[in-house]
Amino acid sequence: MQLVVKTDIKVYPLSSRGKVRDIYAVDDDTLLIVATDRMSAFDVVMNESIPYKGVILNKITLFWMEKFKDVVPCHLLESDISRFPEPLAPYADMLEGRAVLVRKATPLPVECIVRGYITGSGWKDYQASGSLCGHKPPARLREADKLDPAIFTPSTKADLGKHDANISVDEAARLLGQATAAEAKKISLTIYETGRSYAAGRGILVADTKFEFGMIDGRLHLIDEVLTPDSSRFWPAAEYRPGQGQPSFDKQYLRDWLKKQPWNMQAPPPDLPDDVIEATAARYREAYEILTGEKIF
Ligand SMILES: Nc1ncnc2c1ncn2[C@@H]1O[C@H](COP(=O)(O)OP(=O)(O)OP(=O)(O)O)[C@@H](O)[C@H]1O
Ligand SMILES: [Mg+2]
Repeated sequence: MQLVVKTDIKVYPLSSRGKVRDIYAVDDDTLLIVATDRMSAFDVVMNESIPYKGVILNKITLFWMEKFKDVVPCHLLESDISRFPEPLAPYADMLEGRAVLVRKATPLPVECIVRGYITGSGWKDYQASGSLCGHKPPARLREADKLDPAIFTPSTKADLGKHDANISVDEAARLLGQATAAEAKKISLTIYETGRSYAAGRGILVADTKFEFGMIDGRLHLIDEVLTPDSSRFWPAAEYRPGQGQPSFDKQYLRDWLKKQPWNMQAPPPDLPDDVIEATAARYREAYEILTGEKIF
């Protein structure tokens, strides 16, 4: 296994390079997705990478996709690199643990966010307006209180360098069509609730998360990453104290550090000290090990 910041695979055309993933077109219907160790926060890619973060994200996503396979089909074709197409053989070390072959989807233009605890922008919105992305909570909430049931708060997908914007469920229906919006909402809430109760049993509270769906052969499929520390907020259940911010196993630690720096949240970001990199890496490893009960390396 290798540290990977940026890939340069010459046997297939690069389809896109996201903040975290490098994506190659294997053929018209198949993509190779490589989760690198790049770290983004506030939609800006950091100068430094977090060792093996891509491996952790990939393995956590595979773990959940397997768990949810009876609820929603997913894009996954192959995660065992020994069964990847022969032209990728020279790249095996680089791809090990962090690459998947998937069916190419047409991603929905909406991010499916589910909030199960009130925090982050949801908490800000609630303090300012008394409602939470258009939802009116039944009772007064403290920061980090549980939302039961969880709520669906979709957002638009912004282009690189821009920030996503929350939209109402009605706007999502306009963008996606009524039926697709309703299905995406239902599946998002179902897999979130399943995931949150599983994770809670292992000592992690999934405060909120973002799912992505895409169309493959006219059917909705789960794509991208699933319930990872990049796409979710993970809190240690043992330290949960509503009424304040929570410690976390995700990028919140880095976000909190960044907020203390003199930085306007536009590229270029400040350089990360070694101890911040290592503390972030340790949180990601811990999230994997607690969730799956397995050592990562
Ligand atoms: N099966 C698929 N078919 C087509 N596109 C996909 C598929 N799975 C994932 N994607 C897309 O690949 C990209 C993943 O790359 P990455 O996570 O780096 O993106 P990003 O959106 O720039 O980052 P962030 O997750 O921080 O917003 C996303 O745009 C996602 O929609
Ligand atoms: Mg992404």
